[in-house]
Amino acid sequence: MKKIYEKPVITKIQTGFMNKFGNSPYYARKIRKDIDGISINYLVENFGSPLFVISEKKLRQQYRKIYNAFSSRYPNVVFGWSYKTNYLQAVCATLHQEGAIAEVVSAFEYEKARKLGIKGENIIFNGPYKSLKALELAVKEGATINIDHFDEITDLEKVAEKLGKKIKVGIRINMDTGIQPQWSRFGFNLETGQALDAVKRIKAGNKLILSGLHCHIGTFIIEPEAYANEVKKMVQFKYEIEDNFGYSIEFLDIGGGFPSKNKLKGTYLPPDILIPSIDEYAEKITNALYENLKPGDFPKLILESGRAIIDEAEYLITTIHASKRLPDGRKAYVADAGVNLLFTAFWYKFSIEIDREVSGVNEPSVIYGPLCMNIDILDEGTFLPPLERGTRLIFSPVGAYNNTQWMQFIEYRPNIVMIMENGSVEVVREREDLTDIERREKLPEKLKIL
Ligand SMILES: Cc1ncc(COP(=O)(O)O)c(C=O)c1O
Repeated sequence: MKKIYEKPVITKIQTGFMNKFGNSPYYARKIRKDIDGISINYLVENFGSPLFVISEKKLRQQYRKIYNAFSSRYPNVVFGWSYKTNYLQAVCATLHQEGAIAEVVSAFEYEKARKLGIKGENIIFNGPYKSLKALELAVKEGATINIDHFDEITDLEKVAEKLGKKIKVGIRINMDTGIQPQWSRFGFNLETGQALDAVKRIKAGNKLILSGLHCHIGTFIIEPEAYANEVKKMVQFKYEIEDNFGYSIEFLDIGGGFPSKNKLKGTYLPPDILIPSIDEYAEKITNALYENLKPGDFPKLILESGRAIIDEAEYLITTIHASKRLPDGRKAYVADAGVNLLFTAFWYKFSIEIDREVSGVNEPSVIYGPLCMNIDILDEGTFLPPLERGTRLIFSPVGAYNNTQWMQFIEYRPNIVMIMENGSVEVVREREDLTDIERREKLPEKLKIL
């Protein structure tokens, strides 16, 4: 049928109004005046800027949500808090209070956990570099050691000989779970038969008792199915070992890797849409367990989730120090925090909130940090209204891998506070000063300036 003629119309474009894609980037802005009811103003006035702020409430909520997702589906679940993700005492202690044991990957982290009061038997010791001394201590104190390579088997046999007893160990394995990149650098590879060789080697040595399997397939894994593949292969390997070598595999440690609601650079969809819920992961993992385990067999399921637990519980408040115009016309801001504090800025595009109402049209803006270094960029391009000097920006989520991977380069590390559940604000790490930096330095006598 012939279409009915419609007169052309000219419609005025109303910039700034909501359209079918949501808010116009020219007016949309996120305002945050407080964290857990404590005003940004109060926090900065009392504890300075930049300032890391941890929410105890959010941290506990996240832990409980993730723990419950698994413990409500499987009867034998233990969480090992991944120290490297954030080893502030206050963070570790909160999670230990919630029931998590410690997962450490170096002698330093091991020492930290012990100093916090965690018994060796509640420590999982992973990682590719464990000295003989560190292994011996961990064995004496009853920690769970997951072996990374053949040389470590030999080392542990030496420890067993020295202590005159057989040692229970786990081995770390790596495998193809269908995701890229495949982490193949840690542990023994399953598909090539290397993992089986490790079992044979342990058996032949007759000084160690294999009692667990560990695997960590990567980080920020947005595909729950990858875990189902991991679990299936781990369970099949467990039975292969039990049937052929007479060991009893008591635990399956499936590592960490669940994503937080952060936005990876290069992803298009917002995290709320892109990131599967923790229940989807728990469902896939526990289904894979039930489909592959023999009836009545419930080995301990260990999880070492890091990022998904802490990332969203921490914020970084920064202050705009200056603004400038770049030769290409873009607006740029200098903030008092940069990649020295937010190491994860290299791969995340954080949510940025402003501490006050601001008028004016948004324009693409770059946010630089305080470092005299070209790579110090917190955001290469975000829509921001004209910001006055002194305006505060709140970056989130920043709880994972920043307070451990930050660097002391030309600036002091700032205060970290925790907003407690009762509304009080506690400093959990004090701002550094020159004494922290120079404490270990020694100036030869003849170089001293009189
Ligand atoms: C052995 C091990 N377990 C747990 C984690 C924590 O991972 P995520 O923060 O991705 O959960 C890591 C991080 O790399 C790891 O190497």
